[in-house]
Amino acid sequence: MLKILNIVGARPNFMKIAPIQREMRRRKTDFLPLIVHTGQHYDAAMSDSFFVDLGIPAPDFHLEVGSASHAVQTAKIMTAFEPIVLEEKPDWVLVVGDVNSTIACAIVCAKLGIKVAHVEAGLRSRDRSMPEEINRILTDSISDLLLTTSQDADENLKREGVSEEKIKFVGNVMIDSLFYSLKLAENSNIRQDLSLVEKAYAVLTLHRPSNVDEKEVFENLLDALCEISKKLPIIFPAHPRTKANIEKFGFAEKVTGSNIKLVEPLGYLDFMRLYSGAKLVLTDSGGLQEETTALGIPCLTLRENTERPITIEMGTNILVGTNPEKIRQTAFAVLSGEIVSNNKKIPPLWDGRTAERICDALLEIN
Ligand code: UD1
Repeated sequence: MLKILNIVGARPNFMKIAPIQREMRRRKTDFLPLIVHTGQHYDAAMSDSFFVDLGIPAPDFHLEVGSASHAVQTAKIMTAFEPIVLEEKPDWVLVVGDVNSTIACAIVCAKLGIKVAHVEAGLRSRDRSMPEEINRILTDSISDLLLTTSQDADENLKREGVSEEKIKFVGNVMIDSLFYSLKLAENSNIRQDLSLVEKAYAVLTLHRPSNVDEKEVFENLLDALCEISKKLPIIFPAHPRTKANIEKFGFAEKVTGSNIKLVEPLGYLDFMRLYSGAKLVLTDSGGLQEETTALGIPCLTLRENTERPITIEMGTNILVGTNPEKIRQTAFAVLSGEIVSNNKKIPPLWDGRTAERICDALLEIN
């Protein structure tokens, strides 16, 4: 029986842990899974609603660290997590993704000699100005089992000198949650609530510090998006960071004067119902690039690079960068059908059964 601490902290972690926790509970003679929530995200809309929508049991431990600078947040998680590891003596700690909670918990375990499994290992944007890229590189370098979503990730790890026995290509566990929840999401009333007709609107998410923390960059992006919204209404569930900056930079009028509709951050099922009916998604999120790929929805990624090149290879995701003219032109080309990016090619092992392979890999390596 393996005692596992499954770590969650920020919004993109919940849909990755949900299927793993469920599968571990199902195999009750092999696994004793416990959940640790670091509290990196704490608003009901950024955290609690995901536990409800995804059926995740309440955390066994809650560190309640909250927001702070990177150094303070990472240090607070480490300080609060260490006594739990010492007390619980898990066989493995499982971390997902690339947020501060991921690296903080991995470091604690590496120093205590507790084995770490990293889900979504090996992704690289090769842009070290992204905090997530630092978290990815460091977490991978100290993990004992590197579970990957795509073969390019395996190649990245091998190139960095990781021994092949530690790497296991298991597929994308976030897609387990997507397939599991698609039917449930049909019960959501979000499209009616926002008076939306399928394929007659776009969805926008934007929260990367590189896009929303600098006034000029954010303004250029917003101007391009306002133009696009003249052709197709854009629904914009705004992250707290983004919402605060819209106020701070005085962009509220620009938004209300356009056909962009700003709404609160949505729960998992409402958001799925929203983007799954969209004609176009515009985003700087990592997860949404993958979710639109799995559903064959055209996606424009408003970043200069992506750690998820497979989403581009499959054909639905286009990396447009942050140049307003390029964003406008590409969006118009997709809307007019000039660029076709809705061919649904699903990457290998994005099949809804990744959590099973993760559990198998943990048992095998022991
Ligand atoms: C974090 C992750 C990022 C991920 C994103 C998803 C890191 C380095 N970044 O970024 O990879 O894509 O989560 O959302 O781990 N805030 C609230 N309520 C909350 C949480 C945050 O109001 O529940 C506000 C706070 O003002 C906080 C700010 O949002 O300072 C940023 O939160 P933080 O967790 O530091 O980073 P994210 O931008 O959310």
